[in-house]
Amino acid sequence: MPFYHKLGKIPPKRHTQFRKPDGSLYSEQLFGTIGFDGMYSNIYHENRPTQVKEIKKQYNVAPKISKQNNIQSFRFKGFEVKPEKDYLDSRKTVLTNSDCSIILAAPQESQKDYFYKNTNADELIFIHKGTGKLRTFLGNLDFKYGDYLLIPRGIIYKMEFDTEDNRLFIVESKRPIYTPKRYRNWFGQLLEHSPYCERDIRKPEELETYDEKGEFLIKVKKGDDIFEMVYATHPFDVVGYDGYNFPYAFSIHDFEPITGRIHQPPPVHQTFETDAFVVCSFVPRLYDYHPLSIPAPYNHSNIDSDEVLYYVDGDFMSRNDVAAGHISLHPAGIPHGPHPGAAERSIGKTKTDELAVMVDTFKPLQVTEDAMKIADDTYYQSWLDH
Ligand SMILES: [Fe+2]
Repeated sequence: MPFYHKLGKIPPKRHTQFRKPDGSLYSEQLFGTIGFDGMYSNIYHENRPTQVKEIKKQYNVAPKISKQNNIQSFRFKGFEVKPEKDYLDSRKTVLTNSDCSIILAAPQESQKDYFYKNTNADELIFIHKGTGKLRTFLGNLDFKYGDYLLIPRGIIYKMEFDTEDNRLFIVESKRPIYTPKRYRNWFGQLLEHSPYCERDIRKPEELETYDEKGEFLIKVKKGDDIFEMVYATHPFDVVGYDGYNFPYAFSIHDFEPITGRIHQPPPVHQTFETDAFVVCSFVPRLYDYHPLSIPAPYNHSNIDSDEVLYYVDGDFMSRNDVAAGHISLHPAGIPHGPHPGAAERSIGKTKTDELAVMVDTFKPLQVTEDAMKIADDTYYQSWLDH
């Protein structure tokens, strides 16, 4: 996050002696990004965080690709992804390219006997269903419906769910995920016209510290492989840290929509940015108020971006027959727009209660075999007059 956070105990001066009550040293770690040129935190551990005991297994989890080069519009029925007990097993990549992967998951159980770390990618987890706690070595975040959880690469974490009924929409990003630059001043502060501000961002305030030795399994994702690494010390042994690199939560319900007299373009919904894709939030809002306005979007060609819309809740004005949990994929290169009758039907309406998350990628997305299992293969013909 482009602002400073401090949690737990830290010494007054960085890189100086910081001692435990018994006189021994805490172990300092500089947790940096982009070759130490990006955001970083200075972390103080009970034990050296380097104590690898064993590397047990290495296995590949690359998604199987069904359509390498795609020009067909698709609808995927996200809630048809079957719930699975284990968090990592439950994650099904549906769309992917060399920058990012879009993943659906319906995990039933909390991570009990292992920790997880993604070394390649920042993870943005949108909570569609479920409540619980994201536990990390840099502090915990409670989550509920509508939360985005931003977990920067390298954060060791565990997901804990309160019930078995969970639905997650996850974006794994090899490019760092930031708040949009145009909403920040040159010091990084969110500006007045930003649809959210620092107060809306929830930082970790609860830190769990275990000074324990034994065998602790971390499943580490690197490339398309998972490495099962056993460490000799508890991964949650941080007594304190400060800096700019930490996990945080932001609720889609705290996104303040930007509206206008005529239809506003998608960038007004932008919530996060990378240099390879953007994430937008469509939230309940007043419609355009020009006397001749058409609230439904015009047909549009985002000619060089794939557009992925994940429908969360409410009534989706521009589409016929779209339900919560559905994903639409409108690929680069061809126009899309309202379904037959939707533009006319939208005239005179004053507000919408739609809730959706959009991911627009600059490189085309490949469609996976898991996506084809939940695909509506005739959706691309849904703009025809009947
Ligand atoms: Fe669109």
